[in-house]
Amino acid sequence: MAKGKKVTVIGTGNFGSTVAFILAMNGSCHHVMLRGRNYDIAKGKALDMSQAANAARQHTIVKAAKGPEDMEGSDVVIITAGAPRTPGMSRDDLLFKNADIVKCYAREIKEYAPDAIVIVVSNPLDVMTYVALKETGFPRQRVLGMAGILDAARMAHFIYEKLEYGAGQIRATVMGGHGDTMVPLPKFTTVAGVPIEDLLDSEEIGEIVRKTRNGGAEIVNLLGNGSAYYAPAKSTTVMVEAILKDTNQIHSCAIMLKNDYGYSDIVSGVPVMIGAGGAEKVINMALKPLQQTRFKNSVASVQEMVDTLYKANFFDDDKK
Ligand code: 2OP
Repeated sequence: MAKGKKVTVIGTGNFGSTVAFILAMNGSCHHVMLRGRNYDIAKGKALDMSQAANAARQHTIVKAAKGPEDMEGSDVVIITAGAPRTPGMSRDDLLFKNADIVKCYAREIKEYAPDAIVIVVSNPLDVMTYVALKETGFPRQRVLGMAGILDAARMAHFIYEKLEYGAGQIRATVMGGHGDTMVPLPKFTTVAGVPIEDLLDSEEIGEIVRKTRNGGAEIVNLLGNGSAYYAPAKSTTVMVEAILKDTNQIHSCAIMLKNDYGYSDIVSGVPVMIGAGGAEKVINMALKPLQQTRFKNSVASVQEMVDTLYKANFFDDDKK
């Protein structure tokens, strides 16, 4: 019997809830399964969203998962769960805390949704994508991290702020890790097809690049308690819809590199073609030497965190 598409969202905080809500409002799939630590909260949100879908005349049904078995049959599973960095917490403390959370959910996905495509949005994003890949054992095209779409959307917004025209027509490109070392690429950025290098001077472009790298932190500072979720959630649903509709569109996503841009066995953000099978193809762009150096630095910063996990024997019980 043919069934409607199913998407599981793990984590019912602002980020996960907004992802689920956008999917329901767009009617992107027939079932959305919300998996949170507190069943009543997940159920309350699921009911609210299902009722919103009815108001929107959409067919999407949102349900709360009672346990991992409710992920069964998922076409896509999104891992949004993870702790935020709190005062006094080191970068490594956060790394281990979230790596444990992602490891636990990755193992559940392997057992209950073995055919799913996994989208990771927990931070530090590239390392968490690496953990999810290792722990599920899925092929690399089925374990992706969301960040490049978000970072490019932020860059597009900052270009708009500078130009004061072109909103919605700006196509920005950002590769590398989702962090301070991300690599915004003005060379591959246009406004309605016009290269931004024809519209802005190098100082203005430099400012846009800096603002893009700081885009998440700026919102954290403004909110005071929590991080951005509207743009991150929308960016995630762009990936989900590309998978469910088999669009074969190109987006920057975090993926395990395999002889891509000169690197292997490390996760970083690169342009990929997304279709029903996940990231079906990595797109190779010709980078200038400076861009290559920046990408190298970005890969190295992710490698450092992955090495920290290996040194602590984090992956040692992998094959149990
Ligand atoms: C951001 O950049 C939370 O990673 C997310 O806003």
